[in-house]
Amino acid sequence: MLDWSEPASPKSAALLPADPASSGPVQSGLGVIDRSGGRVTVDEKRLINCRADVNQLLPLKYRWAWEKYLAACNNHWMPTEVSMQADIALWKSSDGLTDDERRMVKRNLGFFAASESLVANNIVLAIYRHLTNPECRQYLLRQAFEEAVHTHTFQYVVESLGLDEGELFNMYREAPSITDKAAWALNHTRHLDDPDFRTGTPAADGAFLKDLIAFYVVFEGMWFYTGFAQILSLGRRNKMVGIAEQYQYILRDESLHLNFGVDVINQIKAESPHLWTSAFQAEALAMIREAAELEAAYGRDVLPRGLLGLNAAACERYMRFIANRRCAQLGLPWAFEATENPFPWMSEAMDLKKEKNFFETRVIEYQNGGALAWD
Ligand SMILES: [Fe+2]
Ligand SMILES: [Fe+2]
Repeated sequence: MLDWSEPASPKSAALLPADPASSGPVQSGLGVIDRSGGRVTVDEKRLINCRADVNQLLPLKYRWAWEKYLAACNNHWMPTEVSMQADIALWKSSDGLTDDERRMVKRNLGFFAASESLVANNIVLAIYRHLTNPECRQYLLRQAFEEAVHTHTFQYVVESLGLDEGELFNMYREAPSITDKAAWALNHTRHLDDPDFRTGTPAADGAFLKDLIAFYVVFEGMWFYTGFAQILSLGRRNKMVGIAEQYQYILRDESLHLNFGVDVINQIKAESPHLWTSAFQAEALAMIREAAELEAAYGRDVLPRGLLGLNAAACERYMRFIANRRCAQLGLPWAFEATENPFPWMSEAMDLKKEKNFFETRVIEYQNGGALAWD
């Protein structure tokens, strides 16, 4: 007969307290139940190296995480709801798009197609394991689903336009400017992917923070934004409007992902100020500058000659403008000289309240549908 009170092995002691000062067990929530454990109090909850049971959502400590989860659920959408008819007609017509516009669209789709999976895998296989807070994990579960919806978007675009699926989905291994970005990000998640990785030491906690910066701030908060600007610029000229509408939905989701990541980083800083040394801040700034350089090289590859209202130099300026905003969000000094936003219309694209008859009706439909289903 199985002994339910058997002592936990080091690998399965997820529910038993870990010593935050040492590289203790992973708090996965799947270990042997600690029958002597008392009820969880808010004071015990921590983002990393938590001693409290991670299987108890309540009492909530980080209301910002819960509110982002609720906001994300209210933003529900599916790519197949967006009509691709105008895009299909334009893509198939011989004079609808210039060769440079086609190149930009394909390079842009190729960057996003695999990047959504890289971000999803980082959340599920690296971040989730070490973020020891149930309300944040609740948001991560929702975010993981949204990344699946985003990957679905690129499947739907490939199918609608009749694109070469291998060309698009393998582009992150074939186009050097995209490979360089993916390889840079993967350098930061590799530590966490190691099954022996444990948080609880300044070096390990610092590696976890760098992964958060690489994926939430750089990948989702910087690189995705120039990608959105490229397609939305085309959409503003009434070209590939279906993809542009899908990108607006993705942008709305990514804006929440970015802000969740920033809140997590800033909360870890508040709980563990010893991690946020001047040397660490210098490393974070160096990461943001490197990422902006990689994006500038990608911009030159995507837009070798420039299009109406869009060229590589403007994309680089936009990247620097966004990078400075991200630095401010993290409490870092700006990474670059003050830069004017070359795409001021992007702030309107992000502020969906200004969009008339666009997202609002869809959100209401979903809320009504949800209410009917549960009545
Ligand atoms: Fe995404
Ligand atoms: Fe995302």
